[in-house]
Amino acid sequence: MNKLWQNMMGWVDARFPATETFKYHMSEYYAPKNFNFWYFFGVLSMVVLVNQLLTGIWLTMDYNPTGDGAFASVEYIMRDVDLGWLIRYLHSTGASAFFVVVYLHMFRGMMYGSYRKPRELLWLVGMAIYLCLMAEGFFGYLLPWGNMSFWGAQVILNLVGAIPFIGDQLVTWVRGDFVISGLTLNRFFALHVVAIPLVLVALVFLHVVALHHVGSNNPDGIEIKKHKGADGKPLDGIPFHPYYTVHDLVGIVVFLFVFLGVVFFWPDGGGHFLEAPNFEPANPLKTPPHIAPVWYYTPFYAMLRATPSMFGSAFPGVMVMGGAIAILFVLPWLDRSPVKSMRYKGGWSKLWLGIFVVSFLGLGRLGMIEPSPTATLVARCLTVAYFLYFLLMPFYTSMENVKPVPDRVTGGKHS
Ligand code: HEM
Repeated sequence: MNKLWQNMMGWVDARFPATETFKYHMSEYYAPKNFNFWYFFGVLSMVVLVNQLLTGIWLTMDYNPTGDGAFASVEYIMRDVDLGWLIRYLHSTGASAFFVVVYLHMFRGMMYGSYRKPRELLWLVGMAIYLCLMAEGFFGYLLPWGNMSFWGAQVILNLVGAIPFIGDQLVTWVRGDFVISGLTLNRFFALHVVAIPLVLVALVFLHVVALHHVGSNNPDGIEIKKHKGADGKPLDGIPFHPYYTVHDLVGIVVFLFVFLGVVFFWPDGGGHFLEAPNFEPANPLKTPPHIAPVWYYTPFYAMLRATPSMFGSAFPGVMVMGGAIAILFVLPWLDRSPVKSMRYKGGWSKLWLGIFVVSFLGLGRLGMIEPSPTATLVARCLTVAYFLYFLLMPFYTSMENVKPVPDRVTGGKHS
């Protein structure tokens, strides 16, 4: 058997670099030995991506992308298709799970300075992935053609219309009609099912290529490539395979327990994963009493609502919302600290990261509830705090005292 395998791989390797690629990316990719809990979320993002692709393909087999048939086809999937309810809940819960793991994955990067040189491009590719995910979620949300699908899209498309001069024409072009109709549904289906997933998969590929070119950061923010043994291998690194493949399996199993617990016992997430108005078909004559996007967009939605309009136009809010996402792209160039990881940064960095977390979560909550004068005031303060975290970063990171960084990584479990 072994001989047969060797012969087979020999044949393949003479024509395609299979063993070489496996070694480069797995068995001879040296990852720092001190990875912790936070390093599970990259692989978990991949697990959720695969779940979304597979369940999405199966949903597409029974879904009908027309204004007349979409809502009924989703009901059909839920009631009549064998295990259709499971496939749909895996997909709808998977969308929320995607943002949970990606937000935690991004936060890890912010804590350990994983966006700093030489990983700026890795961060930028990550941000492009994040933009694609947001677009993918938006286009997908229209597809069940429920009443919140319709009105949610209405609110967001109106924002496109708020862009000065070209807004009106642009929004008609995006909608493919003068109102949101079956034509809009058709093009959102094409984008959600083919265009964006293709880009997403390509970007994830580039993300991993960029990561393996520069090597992983770690909770200490030390470059393990600086200390190599006589064999040329990093002293603080261990081969990704088998050590981290097995280690990651444990994280995947725990994640699946939690994820499937939600899928089976709490699929609507208390109205946060599947919203109540979406159990009724789209109705242009019936506005839901309280329109709010799904939880993963609410921090930005709260910023939009908190920004005063100008001459009756929501454009300033659109700019603030866009700015809140755009500023994450330049994060690598805002951080001037001589150290990477939060472990060795000073009190100001820790305080501002805390303020960022509070503002993001607070805005997320405020974006879910009905607006009130107090809520608007709090949302304005939190929006300012969110931006100050980034805008003051060049100052507090370059002026604060930092702790000495050890020469070698600390606390590896696999030594
Ligand atoms: C579909 C979404 C994504 C997938 C599948 C994915 C996958 C991965 C994987 C497998 C790793 C290596 C394991 C780990 O460090 O956890 C990684 C590392 C990394 N990712 Fe992502 N990622 C995604 C989205 C993002 C986003 C949105 C960002 C940031 C904007 C980002 C930034 C990073 C950074 C900076 C690293 C290096 C971390 C370090 O070495 O400390 N990723 N990603």
